[in-house]
Formats: sequence, C-alpha cells, structure tokens
Amino acid sequence: MRTQVGIIGAGPAGLFLALLLTREGIDCIVLEARSRDYVEGRVRAGVLEQGTVDLMHELGVADRLMRESMIDRFLDIRFEGQLIHMDLPGLAGGREVHIYGQQEVVKDLIAARLAVGPLLFEAEAVALDGVDTAKPVIHFRHKGVQHALECDVIAGCDGFHGIARPAIPADALTIHDHIFPFGWLGILSESPPLADMTYANHDRGFALASRRSPRISRLYVQCTADEDPERWPDARIWEELHIRLDADHAELAEGRIFQKGVTPVRSFVAEPMRRGRLFLAGDAAHIVPPTGAKGLNLAAADVRVLARALTAFLRRGDDSLLERYSDTCLRRVWKTIRYSTYMTTLLHRFPDHSAFERRIQLAELDYIASSRAAQTVVAENYVGLPMEAA
Ligand code: FAD
Ligand code: PHB
Repeated sequence: MRTQVGIIGAGPAGLFLALLLTREGIDCIVLEARSRDYVEGRVRAGVLEQGTVDLMHELGVADRLMRESMIDRFLDIRFEGQLIHMDLPGLAGGREVHIYGQQEVVKDLIAARLAVGPLLFEAEAVALDGVDTAKPVIHFRHKGVQHALECDVIAGCDGFHGIARPAIPADALTIHDHIFPFGWLGILSESPPLADMTYANHDRGFALASRRSPRISRLYVQCTADEDPERWPDARIWEELHIRLDADHAELAEGRIFQKGVTPVRSFVAEPMRRGRLFLAGDAAHIVPPTGAKGLNLAAADVRVLARALTAFLRRGDDSLLERYSDTCLRRVWKTIRYSTYMTTLLHRFPDHSAFERRIQLAELDYIASSRAAQTVVAENYVGLPMEAA
C-alpha cells in the first residue's frame, strides 16, 4: 500500500489533518487502532475556541455544530463567596467559545472523512520504519492481517499513548513533564446546567460546572491524582459540588449520573515535534492540564500548521514551512501550557501549599475580580490566541 501522508490516529488531530489535506488534493490514509463506536463514544473535552469553530466552517463540517452547540458568553469564577463574571466577547474583541462535546466533533469529522477517502478502524500501527529516509513505512495490523503502508510523510496523531513519539530516539527529544498533585473526577448527568461556565476555588478543592446541552451537565471535582472513582458514590459527588460551587439545590439540580471518570492533571511537551519524515501533532507531542480547556484546540492548531507545510512540500517541493513546523507549533504550545498552568495554579487547592501561598492565591483572585486588565488576560487566552505566523 502507498499514500502521500500516512496518518496514525483518528482523534481530532488526525481527522482534521485528513480533511485539510484532501481539500488540497493530497492523498492520505488514516489508521485508527480502535473501533468506530469506541472512538465516537469517548467522552473528553467540550470547549471549542473560535479558531476551531472557524476551521470546522472552512472544512464544511459545521452544520450540526451550528444547530446543536451552545455559545458560552460568560466565564465565571467563584471563590470565598465572591463572583468574577467575565463577558468573554466583551473582553476578547468579540471572539467567543462554543460548547460541543469532543465526541460530537469526532463523529462529524469521521462522517466527512469517510465520504472522501480511506479511514481504517481497528487498524493498529505497530512499528515505523525509515523515518530518516524519503520513504518511511507504517507497519499496521488490520483484521488480524499485517500490512505495510509506504508514505512520503508520516503524521503521528496517535495521542499520548501512541507509537509515533516513542519511535523517535530518546536522545533526539527533550521531554518536559510536570504532573500536578491532583486529578479531576468528571461526570455527565441528566440535570440542567448552571447558567454560565463556572470554575470554583474552594478550601475543599476545585470544582467546575460545564454542560453539554440544556439538559445535560458536565461537572468536575478535584480529587487525588490516583483516585479510584468507586470511592466517589453519587451522593458524595453532589455534596462536594454543592459546597465547592456554593450552589444550592435550586441552582444545581441533581440528576442521574451516567458517566464517571478520572483525568490526570499534567503538562507534557516533547520537542522537537519532528524527526525526519515523521511529524507529531496533538496529544502525541503535548498534554495540557484541562483547566484551560485547550487540548482539543491545540491539536486543531497543530494540524492547521502541518497541513499548510505539507501542501507546500508535496505540491511544490518547498520544505521551508516543514522545517519551521515544530518551532511554529511550539510557540503556541508553550503559551497554552503557560495559560493552563496559570489557571490550574489559580484555581486548585495544592496539598503542600503554605498559608502564605493560599493567601497569595486568594489575593490574585481578588485582584482579577477588581481589574478589567486582569480579566482581559484570562478571557483572551480562554477564547484562543490568534494563529501563529508560520
Ligand atoms: P486523541 O484524541 O487521543 O486521538 C489519538 C487517536 O489515536 C485515538 O483515537 C487512538 O485510539 C489512536 N491511536 C493510538 N495509538 C494508535 C496506534 N498505534 N495505531 C493507530 N491508532 C492509534 N481536554 C480538554 O480540553 N478538556 C477535557 O476535559 C479533557 N478531558 C480529557 C480526558 C481524557 C481521559 C483524555 C485522555 C484527554 C482529555 N482532554 C481534555 C484532552 C483532549 O481530549 C485531547 O487533547 C485531544 O483528544 C487530543 O486529540 P488528538 O487527536 O491529539 O489525540
Ligand atoms: C468540559 O466541558 O468538559 C470542560 C470545560 C472546561 C474545562 C475543561 C473541560 O476547562
């Protein structure tokens, strides 16, 4: 088998890349280890930056998004009985964010991809060969049969636990890994959400009230890093949410919890995001703490840069953008890590914080509450920074 770009992984990074390349007339094949049902059912992020929404429009895959997503105009932070109520478009030059579950994005992208080109499910990449040559090969297993896919370029869009990053020799990568001393327990529940996206800093720990629809809430509470969800019966989750969000039963209605899971809170960057003809994009190269709601958006931003660079290379033999791919992406990645780390540090209870550090954290929140300049910093990062110049 042969293609121009072999894409490993059908998450947001791989699917957006496939659609961008096909639009430019570049041939690609997407290999996905899991089944279609599994990928379409995986519950993860939900906040789409303006730039990600724009990308879906450009690719002609925004019809359902426009019908079913909700616009988040306000971002609230609650702490010590106070409320910071930020008008996102008012503070961030008219830009806004949409709430639309990652699995809904993935469903729309899969349908669009299958209409125009190959996407193989249950096709697990097992080894890469020749990434330092002009004809790299992906070895993969599909329906019990071993295949080899010869490519001009390989895009490693296979997430944090994939095989692309480990295929790069360890001494050719610099790894930055910062694990925070807590995790997030997330639930989906059949209950009407709070009026606005609400983050809370509380003595008992962080909490977040988001949503998926007018009848479905997406709620999170800070828990220990290696938390066993079994230790969180429904009643305990609701009790903590009421206390930490300072929301009574009238404001935060309880409903049937139908999904529960723990997410680690970590920052991870592998640089450079390239080795020879292998390019990493999305979670394969970096993880951001969920507090900034950026993981999916960063994956989309990477592949926008990669698609432009691959188009110049494969159509015109111009490799100047590919040479700059990693540096261009890493500028946005590090600014996003900075912001997500800032929000994480601002909003969580750190087990080892001294009384001094706790007071500084509360003073920072008090400052944001009183300063339009500080609120602008939070809002313009939340809605998403402009694309980097290549
Ligand atoms: P992924 O979505 O991970 O896609 C990679 C794909 O590659 C997967 O489909 C995988 O099955 C496939 N794959 C892996 N190995 C192989 C192989 N060998 N061969 C073929 N295919 C392979 N972000 C937020 O902003 N907010 C959140 O609340 C949030 N919650 C999260 C919860 C969890 C449990 C996780 C893991 C992530 C969460 N994120 C969240 C991050 C966000 O979902 C990711 O940043 C986003 O999915 C990145 O997209 P991606 O395409 O790079 O990777
Ligand atoms: C979500 O809706 O899942 C969500 C919202 C905001 C975040 C993280 C996740 O910071």
